Amino acid sequence: MTYLESAAKFYSQVAETPEVGLCCVQSTPLQLPGLVVPPQMQEMNYGCGTTVHPTELSGNPTVLYVGVGGGLEALQFSYFSRRPGAVVAVDPVDEMRKAAARNLEIAAKENEWFDTSFVTIKEGDAFALPVPDNSVDVVAQNCLFNIFEPEDLSRALHETYRVLKPGGRLVMSDPISTRPIPEHLQQDDRLRAMCLSGALTYEQYVQRIIHAGFGQVEIRARRPYRLLDQENYKLDQHLLLESLDSVSFKVDIADDGACVFTGKMAVYTGPEEYFDDKAGHILSLGIPLAVCDKTAAKLAKAHPQAIMITDSTWYYDGGGCC
Ligand SMILES: C[S@@+](CC[C@H](N)C(=O)[O-])C[C@H]1O[C@@H](n2cnc3c(N)ncnc32)[C@H](O)[C@@H]1O
Repeated sequence: MTYLESAAKFYSQVAETPEVGLCCVQSTPLQLPGLVVPPQMQEMNYGCGTTVHPTELSGNPTVLYVGVGGGLEALQFSYFSRRPGAVVAVDPVDEMRKAAARNLEIAAKENEWFDTSFVTIKEGDAFALPVPDNSVDVVAQNCLFNIFEPEDLSRALHETYRVLKPGGRLVMSDPISTRPIPEHLQQDDRLRAMCLSGALTYEQYVQRIIHAGFGQVEIRARRPYRLLDQENYKLDQHLLLESLDSVSFKVDIADDGACVFTGKMAVYTGPEEYFDDKAGHILSLGIPLAVCDKTAAKLAKAHPQAIMITDSTWYYDGGGCC
């Protein structure tokens, strides 16, 4: 059995017998007015963060959700795109598709705004998404791509790029690892399926996104997720996994590289009233400006005395300070 087949088997089991707390968080961080999440759906929250960011969802977007799980995030996306077919949710595991359909029917009874026609559940997998090129506004996946071996992760990322409209967004939540995961854990198919041993480091993960063609990546959250302890996982020292929420944009990669926003700010310290780098960044004296990591590095190198660069907050949503 390949590791992908093991993962599919594992998810068919947890579709039929929900495992509360599998993957990560046990409750959804996203509460929305007028949204009732049925307990059956909540129990099957197999995500490690959230991919539903209200600021990404203006304009009634079409959403392709990869790896439907119990349907929780498909329901949350529908909250923002209330029309038939607006959310297409894909999963190769028959039992999981059935569980999601069942949970969404219960949700329809408990949410007067929701109709099951808002979500179309389709058989398919991350490597062959059942939609045309350039056809969706948002692709989302939560806690699935970390299961993939690196080359498969790249294949899946390229596939999301194919189906997104130009300017479209890939919204993801995945575990990352604070150092490379040792081989003996990476080779454990069950741990991999449980989102515990396939994670890449932050740098490796972001590089794979950029190599797939995404010209802008924004980090929405980065937080501790699980500890692989020394004794149980046969490690030299404990290994902390984190969970990373990100949004990647299908825009061209600039000649000098992709823009990755991690919450850094550039602050001009004087002596003039403002500083213009002639590359699109005007810094007013004393007022922080959000910059990508590439620009932060350039400004820090060129103007170490005049410009202060703040640390990554690991939270960026397009805003500045004022
Ligand atoms: C960790 S669960 C996450 C479920 C859901 N995203 C959530 O947040 O609750 C992984 C999901 O991906 C599905 N899956 C497994 N292999 C897949 C593949 N190759 N392509 C798409 N989905 C897959 C599983 O059946 C399961 O529904």
